Order: sequence, then structure tokens, then C-alpha cells
Amino acid sequence: MDEFRAIIEPFRIHSVEPIRMSDRAEREAHLREAGLNLFALHSQDVLVDLLTDSGTGAMSSEQWAGLQRGDESYAGSPSWFRFLAAVRELFDFPHVIPTHQGRAAEKILFTVLGAPGRVIPNNTHFDTTRANVEFSGAHAADLPVAESRTPSLEHPFKGNMDVAALATLLEARAADVPVVFVTVTNNSGGGQPVSLENLRAVRAVCDRHGVPLFLDACRFAENAWFIREREPGQAGRDVADIVREMASLADGMTMSAKKDGLANIGGWLAVRDDALAEQCRNLLILTEGFPTYGGLAGRDLDAIAQGLREVVDHDYLHYRIRSTAYLGDALHAAGVPVIRPIGGHAVYIDAGALLPQIPALQYPGQALAYELYATGGVRGCEIGSVMFGRRPDGSEVPAAVELVRLAIPRRTYTQSHIDYVIEVVLAVAARAEELRGLRIVEQAPALRHFTARFESLA
Ligand SMILES: Cc1ncc(COP(=O)(O)O)c(C=O)c1O
Repeated sequence: MDEFRAIIEPFRIHSVEPIRMSDRAEREAHLREAGLNLFALHSQDVLVDLLTDSGTGAMSSEQWAGLQRGDESYAGSPSWFRFLAAVRELFDFPHVIPTHQGRAAEKILFTVLGAPGRVIPNNTHFDTTRANVEFSGAHAADLPVAESRTPSLEHPFKGNMDVAALATLLEARAADVPVVFVTVTNNSGGGQPVSLENLRAVRAVCDRHGVPLFLDACRFAENAWFIREREPGQAGRDVADIVREMASLADGMTMSAKKDGLANIGGWLAVRDDALAEQCRNLLILTEGFPTYGGLAGRDLDAIAQGLREVVDHDYLHYRIRSTAYLGDALHAAGVPVIRPIGGHAVYIDAGALLPQIPALQYPGQALAYELYATGGVRGCEIGSVMFGRRPDGSEVPAAVELVRLAIPRRTYTQSHIDYVIEVVLAVAARAEELRGLRIVEQAPALRHFTARFESLA
């Protein structure tokens, strides 16, 4: 239990960015111009931007110093070796392949491993992962534990994979499964952690069938902190040590350094297998760059190297997880339906439960996201049928849950910004029954949520 209620941020603010104030009429005009899609807003028209925690965090003074140290040699730069050492300190894979962000690592890996007739299981694929799997022709199978399907249910490791379902799949089709993925934390499933026990059980099933296990490790440090806090026998353990154990259970990883790399850009693919690494490096050279910089500048490699040291700091993780819970617990206490328990990087409002009058295919999540912005300039992100409802053949199927994610950028907003967000959400929730759905008037065939345009059904 913390001695004081206030969450003291474990940093002082070193430079500031002004936020431009606006009123509802201005924000509604911005929404009309954006086709009611919050991805199309100018970010300067947003007061508190909780669209994503990806690449939106503040860097430390040591990371900015790292940018100055960055060495831009084409091959074999010291920045590369500092990056490699920092990655290996946590993830001891023989092959580390730097990419400009996580999806580039996914694209390379699934170009090699995916193909029509193949299946890639995951606890839950994130949108870019699913899209890259499907683009390869493979099927993306989500196998989360049953507990993850009930947003209000309290469970310490709702990010876990359904091990029995994985075993059934591999017994029937192991030859069609080139890799099993586990996403830590499970972003689409609510930022919920995966336990070490679950990872070990998944590993054992993979071993029985000779299938490699990979981590989608974007939020590895937050996941490890939850393991330390919640898993029997792990209390008091060094987070870096927990991360090393997570890595030791896997044959490879994809990573977006825009999350727990504490950087604004970057990522990597790491693998144990020499032949797979060579195939991936050949693609890397085609699409990203030379293997010692991938898609990154030397200065980015340095910023990530320093970020990886800072992200496993216990004071940072204590503040990080507690400040996300502060938002979620306040909404929960006020009766707003949110995914329980509160995840690591975001609070997920259950828009389906808050807006029962709006059918799934009239996009309750999008309607709620619209209203949070119109009311208070708070930008969240729909994670529901807009994001996941369109199948590759163009048909529509409602997503499992209709959520609005309020993702918290790292080290960026203070407790008073979050107090403001709480007030805005409660003001919208108080008149939830007035909200109406939307329809899509323009959309792309894949990842439509980024560019779709909507019309209100009000
Ligand atoms: C779980 C997960 N995997 C992969 C990605 C893709 O990473 P990037 O945005 O760097 O391409 C994300 C990004 O949000 C993510 O949350």
C-alpha cells in the first residue's frame, strides 16, 4: 500500500509543449472535416491525446543526450553496438534485426513464415499483426483465455493464452503452424498481462509439437511488473530478471520500441534460428536497410538503448502502472464500465455496455470516442467493430467487444491532466443514452480504422 494518495511522478519536467484550448463548436467543426475519424484530426486540436501510447512518450534527458551521441555510419556504427548490447541485456537472442517499427518486423517475419493454408495462433493479435498475417495468406487465430471475454471479471492474468485450445489446434494442425505468438501485454485484450506460468505452459505445448514460440514483446516491462506484483513466488524479484526469463522461454520476438523502448520510433525482430535470421535479414536489406541500422538512424538506436535501461527501473514502473490504474479505478468507482482489472498502458471503456442502444455495426466505440473529443478534446481510440469487424472478403462481423481505449503516453501527462480526463468521461457517461451510432461512408480494404470516414446516424 502506498503511504500517500498523490502519485509522485519520478521525474521533473525539463521542457514543455503548450496545449491549445478549444471549445465544443470548434471541435465539432474539426470532427466534420475529419470525416468523424479521430485519426484524421490535427493533433494540435486535441487537448489530451490518448489515441495511443505508441511513440508518444517523453524521452529523458539521457535519451536526448543519446541522440547527440548517435553515430550515423552506414555500417557497424557504435550506436548499433550500444543498441545491440542493451537489447541483449534483456533478450539474449543471437540474431537482432533492427526495424523502423514493430510492424516492419512483423511484415518481414510473416513474409517468411506465413502462406495460404497456414495458421498463426496468438493470445490476441494486435491489428497490425493480424493484418500482416492475413496479408501473407495465413489465418490469424486468437486464443485468449475465456476470462478475457468478460470485461468486468477480475483476474490477475487475463492476457493469458488458452493453453488447452492451443494444444487442440496443434494436435490437429501442427504442420500448418509455423510459429505461435504470445503478445505481452495483450493490447487488444485490454493491456492485460500474461503470467510466467502461462508462458511456460505454452512453451511446453509448442515443444511437444516442435513449433517455435515468439513474443510480441511491445510492453514487456509492464508485463514483467505485473508478474512481480501478482504472480505467486515472483514478489520482490528484479524486473529485468523476469524479462530475461520471459525471453528465455521464447525462440524469438517482434518489438515496437515505441512502447517499452521509451522511444518515439524503432523496433526489432530477434530470433534464435540461423536460417530464419538469414531469410529475414535478406528481406530487411530490401525494405528497411543494412542490418546494423535497419530502418533507423544511429541516434534512434542510442535513444532506444537508453530507453531499455530506464524502462525496467522499478520507480518508473511503479508510477506507470499506478497512474494508469488511477484513471481506470476512478471511472470504475463512478460506475463507468471498464475492462477490469486495469491494464498496463491504457484504460478500456466498455462502450458496448455503456451504450446498449447502439448496435455493434453502428459502432458504439466510435460514437463514444467522437463524444469524448467533442465534449472535452480527449482523443481515444475505438477498438471494436471498426477496427476488427471487416473480414478479408469484405463482409462484416461484430468484434468480440466494443471498446474505447484511453492509452496513456509514457511520462507525458500529469495527474491533473488525468483528473481532467476523468471529469470529461463522467460528463459523457452521464448522458450516455443520448448518443447515437455511425455508419461508414468510405473505407480501405485493410486497417480501415486509420482512414475510414463516417456519418452520424443522429
Ligand atoms: C501489441 C502490439 N503489437 C504490434 C504493434 C505494432 O507496432 P508499431 O506501431 O511500432 O508498428 C503494436 C502497436 O501498437 C502493438 O500494440
